[in-house]
Amino acid sequence: MKATAQAPSNIAFVKYWGKSNNALTLPNNNSLSMNLESLHTITTVEFDEMYSEDLVEIGFFQESIQKVSGGKKQRVIDQLNRLRQLKNITTRCRVRSINNFPADAGIASSASAFAALTAAACAALQLKPSLKELSILTRLGGSGSAARSVPDGFTEWKRGKNSNGSYAVELAPPSHWDLVDIVLIVSQAEKSASSLEGHESAETSPYYPARLHELKQRVVRVRKAIMAKDFHTLGQEIEKDALSLHLTALTSVPPIWYWQPETIALIHEVYALRRQGIEAYFTIDAGPNVHVICEQKNAQKIRKHFASQAYISKIFSSGVGKGAQIISKHLF
Ligand code: PMV
Repeated sequence: MKATAQAPSNIAFVKYWGKSNNALTLPNNNSLSMNLESLHTITTVEFDEMYSEDLVEIGFFQESIQKVSGGKKQRVIDQLNRLRQLKNITTRCRVRSINNFPADAGIASSASAFAALTAAACAALQLKPSLKELSILTRLGGSGSAARSVPDGFTEWKRGKNSNGSYAVELAPPSHWDLVDIVLIVSQAEKSASSLEGHESAETSPYYPARLHELKQRVVRVRKAIMAKDFHTLGQEIEKDALSLHLTALTSVPPIWYWQPETIALIHEVYALRRQGIEAYFTIDAGPNVHVICEQKNAQKIRKHFASQAYISKIFSSGVGKGAQIISKHLF
């Protein structure tokens, strides 16, 4: 009863912010994203009677593997319990997980982590969920965006009316469009507020109803832009969406500041690139780092441009990738 899964992080073009049901992780809006081929989590789960308690070990980016405890461990155990219940067993397990990018810095590490954990645990338990069921089970783990890391390529998480109706689907495979996400890391410090806190306080912002209102049209525009490979429209919409999310966070009570001065400097750098005729657009998750979305033909030029900025500590870049996969090489 051992299996290993690999799942990608994803970057949202229309972001999920705010929930209608906390316990079930039901979002207030549909969200759309692309899976990131090069930024992933690999997780091995082994259920065995020899374990007297659940053991959770995580290898964070460039750190040695360590046992985790407290809240982080509990979230993993809650998800394992949910899956054990489906199989009607109480067998304990060992979980080992490694990330090839920094956690808690605005690259969705909880998305890849929960998608990989759920896929590996389901395979170890021989639950054999469909893709839709795997997306639902992953979503129930509490990181909603993880539901979008299950199907391949460009995905849309349908808000749904109830738990069984809220899951992500593939809009187009990775080969559909050679978009690249260039992630500019300005800080690897833990962010000021978790996305959990952000979702919970979204409704305290007087601008949140306006965001939800404009999202109805944005979701349609972004879906169409992806299908038509209309980069100009996609880019305009993703920037508006990121600004609207951060405006909501900044005007929540208490305000949540994810941006650092470098974040704003990089937004202006992206505008400057466009003035030079290089088409690139920014988006920013719940953290200070900036994602620059471009087409493959401009990726190298843009990466080189940012490599010379002293305040950028690291640059990751990734094309569009597959969703959660079971792989054969185990971590222990
Ligand atoms: O899935 P969560 O609970 O970690 O929330 C993710 C929130 C954002 O990353 C800011 C947006 C998104 O849709 O990915």
